[in-house]
Amino acid sequence: MTTRRKTAEEFRSHRWYGVDDVRAFGHRSRTKQMGFATEDWAGKPVIGIVNTWSEANSCHFHLRQRAEEIKRGIWQAGGFPIEMPAMSLGEVLMKPTTMMYRNFLAMETEELLRSNPIDAAVLLGGCDKNIPGMLMGAISMDIPAIVVPAGPMLRGNWRGKPLGSGSDVWKYWMELKAGGIQAADWDEMEGGIARSFGTCMVMGTAATMMSMAETLGFTLPGASSIPAADANHPRMASLTGRRIVEMAWEDLKPSDILTKKSFDNAIRALMALGGSTNGIIHLVALAGRAGIDLPMTRFDELARDTPLIANIRPSGQYLMEDFFYAGGLCAFLEKLRPLLHVDAKTVSGKTLGEDIAGAETYLHEVILDLDKALKADGALAVVKGNLAPDGAVIKPSAAEPRLHKHSGPALVFEDYNDMAARIDDPDLDVTADTVLVLKQAGPLGGPGMPEWGMLPIPQKLLKQGVRDMVRISDGRMSGTSYGACVLHVAPESHVGGPLALVKTGDIIELDVEKRTLNMLVGDEELATRRAAWTRKPVIYERGYGLLFTRHVQQADQGCDFDFLRANAGGKTPEPEIH
Ligand code: FES
Repeated sequence: MTTRRKTAEEFRSHRWYGVDDVRAFGHRSRTKQMGFATEDWAGKPVIGIVNTWSEANSCHFHLRQRAEEIKRGIWQAGGFPIEMPAMSLGEVLMKPTTMMYRNFLAMETEELLRSNPIDAAVLLGGCDKNIPGMLMGAISMDIPAIVVPAGPMLRGNWRGKPLGSGSDVWKYWMELKAGGIQAADWDEMEGGIARSFGTCMVMGTAATMMSMAETLGFTLPGASSIPAADANHPRMASLTGRRIVEMAWEDLKPSDILTKKSFDNAIRALMALGGSTNGIIHLVALAGRAGIDLPMTRFDELARDTPLIANIRPSGQYLMEDFFYAGGLCAFLEKLRPLLHVDAKTVSGKTLGEDIAGAETYLHEVILDLDKALKADGALAVVKGNLAPDGAVIKPSAAEPRLHKHSGPALVFEDYNDMAARIDDPDLDVTADTVLVLKQAGPLGGPGMPEWGMLPIPQKLLKQGVRDMVRISDGRMSGTSYGACVLHVAPESHVGGPLALVKTGDIIELDVEKRTLNMLVGDEELATRRAAWTRKPVIYERGYGLLFTRHVQQADQGCDFDFLRANAGGKTPEPEIH
């Protein structure tokens, strides 16, 4: 661990505030304009709070207040806080998909930190893409950084039954279409499923990525599991404010924390939590920023002997509030200790092993012992074959086991609109054995790789009692979703990956045990189809959309922009101050 403490003159902010020239006069006088006095900042580290609060993001509704609590801690520890708003990626309202803007937030975070007099940063957010986006930027900037996770909302409640974000929406939407519940029931549920500020409270992408941030070493111990509305949450925020000031003096940077070992720990936790498939894409992107090679095969290797021990929806039964009462991520990681590299460093200044030492599990039905796992291995699996040469992802723990090995005829939808127009047609030629295939849902085809991967079960089959079937796409799936959905097919159909060549009636074989995904179509026939295939034009001709379509990488590469990865070129210089 870093032992030498920085001097005040070594802080980046000293170049703005500490020198005696006309520019520094401007920096100081304009800081005084906001009512601060010289003693508020002189000789202190300046801490940037990157805040993704927005009224367009209900999951972050409390973050204006949390920023004040972080500032309280920063003042207490002798730092100078500067709050900086950043684009808030609100999963529900933002279109076409927040995934399109994750890299935007990453760029914004990196450039906010670089262009301002910031010595260390607190990253404040939680809804799905916000933490990976901010962390990607902070890793590239490589100044001390710590995450305050927004925290999950309280359990949903409907007529005394707990409701889970997303998961129960999908479940009861299917019931509504099948006639199992009525419109009045559905309306009533709308007021009970999101009862407080905070993120989705199943093990969706938000809870997954908050847990990943903690396991990688970027939060104070236990921070990721605290419900947003619990008084422990603001106390954690203040404590984080105090800690980041110390980290600035210690110069404890992302590059001191992230190693192959810390990513292995995160992958173990992802599997044992039954975490979101999105976690794979984000971890690959984070590793790419840190210059660490993280192939998809590493996820599959570690999944094979990592048991699923978090009994949380959609893979299990409980919700994040229960996980917190059960002991939270520290207790969970303590159970997982035999599979972890406990010498990995964290923002606490200690090792992961020290952070979690002695954490107790209080509800043993929520956090299970390794030998009582929900599933002995393989919560997520990476499959390959002639349909996905660069890999695809499935979450077997959230699929009906009978579908783990399945062969059936494809029913192909050429894009989302084609699917929406036909899926509930009473004359659709579909049975429970059919494999639904959706094209044009990838990073470029979507664009932005929307969460369309949990294709709806055709109404005709819902009425027959079918609730799961094999579905394949180059899109993603919400972490709250479930089913036998093969996702992230790479390369995607838009760029001419084999998925582009599938036709209705082709037999598709999925074998999760063998990790294979193939279409039983001969090479000669595939060559004929390829010769006739044409690429659709991209829809953006200007702006960020054009930048995105020119530079986004495929799913197995983490969907980062090619020019932002650590190996994309030399180091970006510090700004000149003149
Ligand atoms: Fe924000 Fe799910 S919608 S975390």
